Amino acid sequence: DETKLEKFFIGSIDQGTTSTRFIIFDGVGHPVASHQVEFTQMYPQSGWHEHDPREIIESVYDCIEHATKKFIDQGHEISDIKAIGITNQRETTVVWDTKTGEPLHNAIAWPDTRTKGMVRDLKERDGAEDLLQICGLPLSTYPSSVKLLWLLRNVESVQKAYEEGRLSFGTMDTWILWNLNGGLEKDVFVTDATNASRTMFMNLHTVKYDDTLLDFFGLDTKKIRLPKIVPSACPDSFGSMASGILKGIRIAGCLGDQSAALVGQQGFSPGCAKNTYGTGCFLLYNVGDKPVISNHGLLATVAYHFGRKPVYALEGSIAVAGSGVKFLMNNLGFITHSDKISDLAASVEDNGGCVFVTAFSGLFAPYWIDDAKGTIFGITQHTERGHIARATLEATCFQTKAILDAMERDSGHRLAELAVDGGMSNSNLCMQTQANIIGIPVDRPAMRETTSLGAAIAAGFAVDIWKEFDELKEINQKDRMIFQPSISKEESAKMFKKWGRAVEMCRGWLD
Ligand code: G3P
Repeated sequence: DETKLEKFFIGSIDQGTTSTRFIIFDGVGHPVASHQVEFTQMYPQSGWHEHDPREIIESVYDCIEHATKKFIDQGHEISDIKAIGITNQRETTVVWDTKTGEPLHNAIAWPDTRTKGMVRDLKERDGAEDLLQICGLPLSTYPSSVKLLWLLRNVESVQKAYEEGRLSFGTMDTWILWNLNGGLEKDVFVTDATNASRTMFMNLHTVKYDDTLLDFFGLDTKKIRLPKIVPSACPDSFGSMASGILKGIRIAGCLGDQSAALVGQQGFSPGCAKNTYGTGCFLLYNVGDKPVISNHGLLATVAYHFGRKPVYALEGSIAVAGSGVKFLMNNLGFITHSDKISDLAASVEDNGGCVFVTAFSGLFAPYWIDDAKGTIFGITQHTERGHIARATLEATCFQTKAILDAMERDSGHRLAELAVDGGMSNSNLCMQTQANIIGIPVDRPAMRETTSLGAAIAAGFAVDIWKEFDELKEINQKDRMIFQPSISKEESAKMFKKWGRAVEMCRGWLD
């Protein structure tokens, strides 16, 4: 019952693209203490994007330490925390030396496009057309496979470690789990099925590494160590905290952040969908216990795997959402804080004729145009910063519309409403624009940390705080806000047509 559940707590590590946070939830899904830190984004060349793997681990410990102190100050005991869940930015690739535990390069972050040329060549290779059916992902700069290949071809220390059979590869979940468990000593080297489904090394149907995929990328598993794939909720596979304030607490849940958000929104039935506006924006649509391979530019992925059968999703990935707002803030100085974007956008009535294709990492779903570059169309003497701010928010909304259209074609099913969360969903203006562009209601929960909540739910299931999804149904249901479409279909179709034109014009930009 509710009073009993309020005494159980679960810690959730959310390691995102630009920040790390640790949130402690009670058994009825309320966040009671949290801490967040941003870490360094490195852009060493145009299109390159790196993170320091050690700094990320420090940020995790920092968040755990600070949030737990706040939790203790509220009068709770550490022993009230029953388990920890981890959720993370996906695809970002880390390589380290199996013998010393030292990273051999910065992590290559998921939006990085340095592999553009390599991807063009790989597409020409025999067998390239078979990959999608096996792993659910199209060949692009996005998955981990091409990032690892780049490291193997371009970084001497990585090549050497590979030749000497001491190269460990991991996505961010694996790197964090390995470190939190104390590194070399316990050597907990695992990944969950949702994260593994983003590498291009995993067969989506068997949830195991696949020789056809590994051969295509030329990987010899005697020379490189790949983490063991396990379900997302496990009492025994993820180990426990080896040090720090939560030493000894069990890690019981792990899933990629977009999967976690689907779980946090309780998208447990086929036909449920959510859209998370974080650094990028990702729409996941639950398709049930059989993967659906897209014919229209979407990804097929593991939605979550709670131990019985994996559940699959169709995904529409948008590379730029909050990072577009950060670009206006950090690079162009339009605003001093991301929260101010709504005010700036509201300072004008409409986009003033501007369309901003925010293709900073090429364009992802459903277009997959690797050589697109960010382009603003329709600038005149009339154009103000407000118009560009609006066009920036609209770019994510238009791509969401294109993704929903593709999803409808793939599934034959039209979504009735869209559940949303993530930073940019705080903007009422943006969510109203989204409802107008897609022509269906947008449903926003009061507590928008659904990604962290999802990881807490996975951990809670693993340690039996909850046993059935039904027990969660009250969580985060109060004070949801619904945005109803408020413009005519003709008007929104006209806007979307203009967007489509802009997308066509941003192709093939020469380097
Ligand atoms: O696939 C990349 C995704 O996991 C990143 O999520 O929330 O940092 O934009 P986010």
